[in-house]
Amino acid sequence: MPEGRGSWGSKLGFLLAASGSAIGLGNIVFFPANAYTYGGGAFYLPYLIALFVIGIPLMILELGIGRMTRRSMPTALKLIGGTRAELAGWFGVLNAGIITMYYITLLGWVVGMLVGAARSLWQHAELAAFTPAPGALTEVGTFFFDMISGWCPVLFVVIVWLLNLLVVVKGARSIEAVVKIFVPLMWLIMIVLIVRGVTMPNGVQGIFFLFTPDVAAMTQPAVWKGAFSQMFFTLSLGFGIMTAYASYLPKKTDDVQSATTISLMNCSFEFIAGLAIFSLLFACAIVPKASTLSMMFWVVPEGITRIPVMAQAFGVLFFALLLVAGLTSSVSLVEAVVISLMDKFALQRRHVLIGVFGVGLTGSIAFALPTVVDTGLDHCGTFGLSLLDLVDHWAFGYGLLVCGLLEVVILGWLFDLRRLVAFINESARFKLGRSFVVLVRYVLPLLILTIVVLSIVEETGGLYGHRMATGSIRGLHIIAFGGWLVLGIGGAILLTLLRRRTPLEEAP
Ligand code: TRP
Repeated sequence: MPEGRGSWGSKLGFLLAASGSAIGLGNIVFFPANAYTYGGGAFYLPYLIALFVIGIPLMILELGIGRMTRRSMPTALKLIGGTRAELAGWFGVLNAGIITMYYITLLGWVVGMLVGAARSLWQHAELAAFTPAPGALTEVGTFFFDMISGWCPVLFVVIVWLLNLLVVVKGARSIEAVVKIFVPLMWLIMIVLIVRGVTMPNGVQGIFFLFTPDVAAMTQPAVWKGAFSQMFFTLSLGFGIMTAYASYLPKKTDDVQSATTISLMNCSFEFIAGLAIFSLLFACAIVPKASTLSMMFWVVPEGITRIPVMAQAFGVLFFALLLVAGLTSSVSLVEAVVISLMDKFALQRRHVLIGVFGVGLTGSIAFALPTVVDTGLDHCGTFGLSLLDLVDHWAFGYGLLVCGLLEVVILGWLFDLRRLVAFINESARFKLGRSFVVLVRYVLPLLILTIVVLSIVEETGGLYGHRMATGSIRGLHIIAFGGWLVLGIGGAILLTLLRRRTPLEEAP
């Protein structure tokens, strides 16, 4: 066991950290945006099914391998399934690295909006009654596009990266200290926002929209694909985050119970976030736009401007919530990358942090300055060509699913899954049965594969959902896709081939 990996001070610390990882931008803005795209009430049944069929089982597995091997994903997979499996582990870590870069960019923009909210944005009384001309951007939207077309985001991104480094500087110990304050804080802010939302006139209409089942819409494959992808993202699955966090646990911990607790905490947060956002938007007669970025940076904020009293305070609260929730997620991504490198190369945490900071910051800055790619970007916002959109489409849209698929195939087929199940059952109160093995070996791979294939079919039909389907944009997509594959697979091969500097213990 390498020195200095660290461990959680308490089970509560671990649960807070893992739920802090799960609860992030995905819960507050992506879920309502997806729920709206896929028809509100039509979404939550597939979503609940995704939770029990794929979410909780995959989380049990990720926690189980982390606790069993006490290693982060690539090394854990090497112990379990040999070199081929390690390769898949590094592919996941590289994807996590890419997502970290732009997740931090989004948080940098959140800092910019927070600064705006705390200063003059939303202060003018007339803003409360502001009604935009059709097609025009609102004051908040204009502020956002002005901000991201300047250089300030570089500063914000540096700030967010430094905050991340500060949180992971001592690994589990420092993460635990921070989540003990941040996780309760984000629940508190969320409760304030939901009380505000539902007590506004017509606010309840939004809740009806979210909860009225729409059976007809449920027959569309896209709804199911949306629900399953959302589940991977919101539970932080696929990239070995939960494996890294579980590797700091004591040998005897109940994975089934932890996975259920973390998932239910996450999904209940998501539900109440949905209530808060939909009640606010319906009360303010705002059409919830489907795109997650628009939802986050100008649709919901526009709703907030129409809150009759203390709009500014609510604006500050909303972006503070995004920042707090986002930070507890981004640190888990950073930590997973850092510990994976430490586990293989026996490097000191300090040195890895400096390297990750250098590479990560460069990437985040590239994402934070969309004008570089989209020279037409101004305060009216075109936003069709941002690097962030392109990369998100591949690393997030497919990366998570592909990594999840590789994970279940490795665990189900390259390894005696019954051994892992027996290990999990040793300390679990609710024991996993044979049906779990069948689920992991047959159902999950088929299910994930179907979703990937359906997405690709949809892709070739040119249904990108927004302005990405035409001409030169398609060319850029091909470049982004190629870049993602070459970097992801090439990088993974390189990291797998480099000489291991830690002793590799026999699989337990
Ligand atoms: N779950 C987080 C959210 O909902 C995002 C996140 C953190 C994530 N770590 C991850 C997503 C790992 C995928 C993989 O915002």
